[in-house]
Amino acid sequence: MCGIVGYLGTKERVGLLLEGLKELEYRGYDSAGLALLGEGAPLQVFKTSGKISALEHLVQGVRTQGLGVGIAHTRWATHGKPTQENAHPHVYQHSALVHNGIIENYALLKAQLEQKGHLFSSQTDSEVVVHLFEDMLETTPANNVDQALQVFKNTIAQLEGAYAILLISARFPTCIFYAKNHSPLILATGKEGVYFASAQNALVGHAQQMVRLGEGSVGVLDWQHPIDLNRLGVVQPIAQDCQQSSKEGFSTFMEKEIYEQPKVLSLLGRLCGDRVCLELPEGFLEGISCISISACGTSYHAGLVGKYLIESLARVRVQVELASEYRYANPATQEGELFIAISQSGESADTLEALRLAKALGLKTLSLCNTQNSSMAGMADALLLTHAGLERSVASTKAFASQVLVLWLLALQLAQERHALYPNTLQVQMQALQGSLQAMQEGLEWQSQVRTLSAQILERDLKGYFFMGRGVFYPLALEGALKLKEIAYVHAQGYASAEMKHGPIALADSSLLSTTLLPQHLLFAKNLSNVEELRARDSLIFALSPIKLEEATFQIQTRAYDHYMPEFFHMLVILQLFALEMAQLKGLDVDKPRNLAKSVTVE
Ligand code: G6P
Repeated sequence: MCGIVGYLGTKERVGLLLEGLKELEYRGYDSAGLALLGEGAPLQVFKTSGKISALEHLVQGVRTQGLGVGIAHTRWATHGKPTQENAHPHVYQHSALVHNGIIENYALLKAQLEQKGHLFSSQTDSEVVVHLFEDMLETTPANNVDQALQVFKNTIAQLEGAYAILLISARFPTCIFYAKNHSPLILATGKEGVYFASAQNALVGHAQQMVRLGEGSVGVLDWQHPIDLNRLGVVQPIAQDCQQSSKEGFSTFMEKEIYEQPKVLSLLGRLCGDRVCLELPEGFLEGISCISISACGTSYHAGLVGKYLIESLARVRVQVELASEYRYANPATQEGELFIAISQSGESADTLEALRLAKALGLKTLSLCNTQNSSMAGMADALLLTHAGLERSVASTKAFASQVLVLWLLALQLAQERHALYPNTLQVQMQALQGSLQAMQEGLEWQSQVRTLSAQILERDLKGYFFMGRGVFYPLALEGALKLKEIAYVHAQGYASAEMKHGPIALADSSLLSTTLLPQHLLFAKNLSNVEELRARDSLIFALSPIKLEEATFQIQTRAYDHYMPEFFHMLVILQLFALEMAQLKGLDVDKPRNLAKSVTVE
């Protein structure tokens, strides 16, 4: 949540900071700002509500010269509305600060400072830190950088919560003070200076080497003193191919990423003849008695699909928990339990903390990530990359498909090792895997029909949207509803089909659309009964099924496949296109939906 960039050096800073912020815009985009300071140049702060393009407009013509520092921020609001006052950097008399995270004890600190006469200009938790630093500097004057660092350390020691903080002060114009605790912050070096960022993609083309700062890091970068990255952590090269890609002719990144799915989901390297061979350490899957999966949002839905697949194929008990709940649930563990964290970004704070807890509980851990150099990737005992490529649209599409695929492969490898499947069943699964890639390609062919149906559905001015399915199609229904909610801003809810009659059916009438997933090869007749129950109460039905349904108000008669998993991936693509078309018809910003962020690094 929120993106931070900082720079100390001789390069022109405005362009560099804006360039970095644009790469981090997926972390939040409701307001943005930057602060500049240099030898002989006063503290200048520019900030505005809105996206980074608004900040770019604001600083048009502003350029820096010579040695100096700059810090910049793109915000996802936690405390206080996304206004100009609440945008970072926050400034007091001579210092400016950017912060990512949440200062949990800010109210107490703010009250104490107000008693001393401090006047605050924002509703944020972050502003308190810059006031506190200056207040402490008043009582403990610092004549040099070392003394100022001590004051900064004392300031940070007062904070509770999660933070990545950069602070600059006109009293020390060639220094950046930094602190990191449970929010991502990297420090990097290049030929012409030193850099900070929330993620390395902000620094491509500028910095060459980086370290991920460890928890509890507090320090200062001072132009007078050369920095030795080796002292601060494990030095890694900046991946020069991690920058955001272009739309390549598609109208949105989401559409492009939906279309990339059949290509990126190559099974290459993970199938060895007729066996699955995931790149796991030797013996990693031996002795597993049960599995716990933890994740957030779309990744959580992938985890639910994984549960069905692992339990039915490998006969291992799986429980799936939202990471935010797992953290505080005081979970009971079992001998031989494997913990799996699933995250596209590898940075979601809740999932990271759930993984930390699992490690502390002594569980064997596995990360399923799409981002190689992420915090989560290096934390678990083993890592499986989902190889979906950079996903730029906030609403996740190809990352979900790749997570499900890798979980399916994991289920099969477990089944292999435990001799849980007959060879011919394994063979059928392998064919279904290959067939699923084709089924996704064929799902794309429905786009124009989905557009026409979406227009007809929008004309009805509905009050609600249900999505229903059974088995693996239940989490797919949850995902279909989440996609529609995220980008088309309508009230959509996913249900297990049979659960409808236990409450939600009270809402059924002609202003409710129930999107029902009726695969041919998984409980078709049971699903059909649930459709009848809704139809009898006048709900409109949008059916996805290869079998023609008289009961449906709208139907996409999907292609027929010989297994329910290709049907799953085929319907996944159609549901993604449905959300996309609904949002586009409403004229909404598909890639950057309101109130959301791609990477959520606060609790
Ligand atoms: C945010 C995004 C969702 C995503 C979730 C989990 O809420 O908007 O699209 O599913 O985070 O993200 P992760 O990177 O951990 O998979």
